[in-house]
Amino acid sequence: MKEIRIGILGFGTVGAGVVEGIQKNGQLMADRTGITPVVARIADLDITTDRGITIGKDVLTTDAMSVITDTSIDLIVELVGGTSIARTFTLEALKQGKPVITANKALLADHGEEIYKVAQENNTGIYYEASVGGGIPILRSQRAGLIGNQIESIYGILNGTCNYMLTRMEREGLPFDEILVDAQALGYAETPPDLDIDGIDTAHKAVVLASMAYGAPVPMDACPTKGIRGLAAAEIENADELGYRIKLLAIIKDDNGEVELSVEPALVPKEHMIASVSDSFNAVFVKGDIVDDTMYYGRGAGRLPTGSAVIGDIMEAAADKLHGVGTPVSVTMMLQKDSLNYCDAGSIEKRCYVRLCLEDKSGAMAQVMAIFGKHNISIASVVQKELHENGCAPVVILTQKAKESEFVGAMEEIAALDVSCSDPIRMRLEDFE
Ligand code: HSE
Repeated sequence: MKEIRIGILGFGTVGAGVVEGIQKNGQLMADRTGITPVVARIADLDITTDRGITIGKDVLTTDAMSVITDTSIDLIVELVGGTSIARTFTLEALKQGKPVITANKALLADHGEEIYKVAQENNTGIYYEASVGGGIPILRSQRAGLIGNQIESIYGILNGTCNYMLTRMEREGLPFDEILVDAQALGYAETPPDLDIDGIDTAHKAVVLASMAYGAPVPMDACPTKGIRGLAAAEIENADELGYRIKLLAIIKDDNGEVELSVEPALVPKEHMIASVSDSFNAVFVKGDIVDDTMYYGRGAGRLPTGSAVIGDIMEAAADKLHGVGTPVSVTMMLQKDSLNYCDAGSIEKRCYVRLCLEDKSGAMAQVMAIFGKHNISIASVVQKELHENGCAPVVILTQKAKESEFVGAMEEIAALDVSCSDPIRMRLEDFE
């Protein structure tokens, strides 16, 4: 039986989950792999708070560097969070030839290129399963089970906080701010939660997924990002009446060698499986050219689910190190090329949901329809409600596919009409066809 001595940096929610998981199932892991995981050192600035875990006093330290440089430590688990000190710790550990396991999607999204290169130069690994989809082994599925596929598309619900909020807004009609407080209390939300509700956390995960799918570092500015902040109950009600739910989607597609990438709230048909992904659960749909459609579902956040993903990486890193496989596939897959080509955002074709508020005057609708026609946007359905708000009539339109640049032009013209009471609200409609 071999032993792997683990140094953990950061003893917060996930760190405690990792230790709890190893304490519970460490023997099982040893029986399965022949490698015993030993939590040898844990560094955190706070070593007095009770995490509900029994741990030897000599294991805890406030000095993270002493853990990284401890020659008896085989691998480092970075759970500090943020992109500053976490980057320093990660690079230092890699330079010492130690594999690093991290759950830090922001770190990878902002400094991935540098980190992958340093890992490669030092012939060691950076393992980051926990950075995307919490407990769902989506990256391992991509780089192992799907390695023989060209990835055609990936659709992800990747933020537990937003999915939880959208689910409760739909079910209970509660206001956004009230539900956010609950999501934070349940430990789903980032600090600050703006990262969740503005879609940035989802974008961090989307760029990691896209990097792995297409073999090059993907910068955050390649991912146009819109979150759910300010989403009105009216949009959720209208979508519901029309047979759709609203989900915050990461969309990654290969369009003849150009990558389409975005994070945005979108209407999805209720009968599609993605619409059934509720509460804090995450799901990722991957379509490969050989395998066709696949789906991965699970808890996207939380102490033990994320801990499970970290533990999976610990055992893989331990096996790589002890069996000497060289630079792990998680790194080499990332670095097949320096950069990717991206679709021109204006040329992307999509369907949209549009909500207008029009003065209840003859000819108002005709003017709107003329603008849609001028921009080559075909209407799939129109609902004008009798309800009048401040003398205005809400009009809900679903379109057929048209170019993003045409939608932008049409929305500008509609907003400028005298009969428009407020700026149009527009959202993507994704029917997965
Ligand atoms: N804030 C994140 C979420 C946690 O809500 O999904 C996991 O990345």
